[in-house]
Amino acid sequence: MECKHTYASIPDLIAKKRDGQELDPDEIKQFIRGLSNGDVQDCHVGAMLMAIFIRGMSENEICSMTMSMRDSGERLHWPQYRGSVVDKHSTGGIGDKISIPLAPALAACGLKVPMMAGRGLGITGGTLDKLESMPGYQTQLSDEQISNVINTVGCGIFSQSLKLNPADRYLYAIRDVTATVPHNALIVSSILSKKSIEDLDALVLDVKYGSSAFMKTIEQAENLAQWLHKVSEMLGMRTCCYITEMNNPIGFCIGNAIEIEESLDLMKYKENHSKDLEELVCEQGGRLLLLTNKVETIEQGREMLRQTFRNGSALKKFHEMIIAQGVSKTIADQLVESTETNDILKLSNIQHRAIALESGFIESIDSFKLGTIVQRLGGGRLKSTDKIDFSVGIRLLKHIGDKVQANEPWAILYAKDDASTRFPKFLEEFNSALRISSTPVQPLQRIYKVLS
Ligand code: URA
Repeated sequence: MECKHTYASIPDLIAKKRDGQELDPDEIKQFIRGLSNGDVQDCHVGAMLMAIFIRGMSENEICSMTMSMRDSGERLHWPQYRGSVVDKHSTGGIGDKISIPLAPALAACGLKVPMMAGRGLGITGGTLDKLESMPGYQTQLSDEQISNVINTVGCGIFSQSLKLNPADRYLYAIRDVTATVPHNALIVSSILSKKSIEDLDALVLDVKYGSSAFMKTIEQAENLAQWLHKVSEMLGMRTCCYITEMNNPIGFCIGNAIEIEESLDLMKYKENHSKDLEELVCEQGGRLLLLTNKVETIEQGREMLRQTFRNGSALKKFHEMIIAQGVSKTIADQLVESTETNDILKLSNIQHRAIALESGFIESIDSFKLGTIVQRLGGGRLKSTDKIDFSVGIRLLKHIGDKVQANEPWAILYAKDDASTRFPKFLEEFNSALRISSTPVQPLQRIYKVLS
């Protein structure tokens, strides 16, 4: 449909939002269309995002923005799999690698998972960046490649592209480096424009709250979850929102290559895999099995998911998925068959240990501090052109509630070569991320609420 307001220039639209007025659906469409046709430049995008961030958006504006972004490219269709097409998306956290083992586990349960994921945003890591730490992994897939991976494997994890939601691809990259990520309107339109392209039967959203999440408080997270619910209902998507804790990192690993290693440990069901990660994956995957009527209770759903890790079927799907997305068979074999994956994932060999200053029980591990260190060392972006350094990261040696002795190491920092001059400051930050209690500490409760 053509825009009514052909007289409004892009600077006029920015000025309207800057002055606190509501943009009408045609104006939002004009701006979003301008991202693809060249009418809108990076400077316009930065200014508009900041105006939205400061002035906010009405319900009508959020819905129009989501639909305009969704319609900026093509949509996927899965009539042959009706009733079995699902996905999960998170608002972003530190150590949040849930999607990586979840997609193949769901495929192993017979569901179809066309997962359009994101890159790192701010200090939170991105599923796509993590997957690209496997040499050869392609995130930009053609329609044919997406159909092929869904038809043959059952799951694929890929990015927006020039054909699929180009608007989010553009806005997402600029939000990441203009301090305009944590805003309801921008998060809702970004997430739901991607998910509504996928032709889903059920969606689980993981809305995080805490020091390293975009929503710092439970109230903010609940408010975001309500918006996500409202807009996904309007788009006709069956959605369940989890509100989960994000003051402490998920699992033991933070970074890109290192989070692939930890995801593989769960899929291999190694003795020392993260139980924290396993619980979240089984809960959210179990919910999708319940929402699509593949099981009768959430307990059955959790158990069915867990079984895919125990019996190796999730690992097999992961192997097939990464080959279908460009990883050579030799590398894929080594990643899934070997207990030693570092020849491929190549974590930095410059390592520093954080030491506990006193004895006691681990009360909290500040994920904001750890996420910031990894981002600054090159694990995230400060400019949209920054290249990710996959080799940096943090490995926790302890978790909440564990006992620790004074002078015992509790974490390892894998740092990049040229960061040596910055180590003193990073190491101070690194050491200060740990809080120790003199009395025993209860294990972490991640899930605060489920809204379905
Ligand atoms: N994930 C997204 O895809 N978009 C956001 O804005 C935040 C998390």
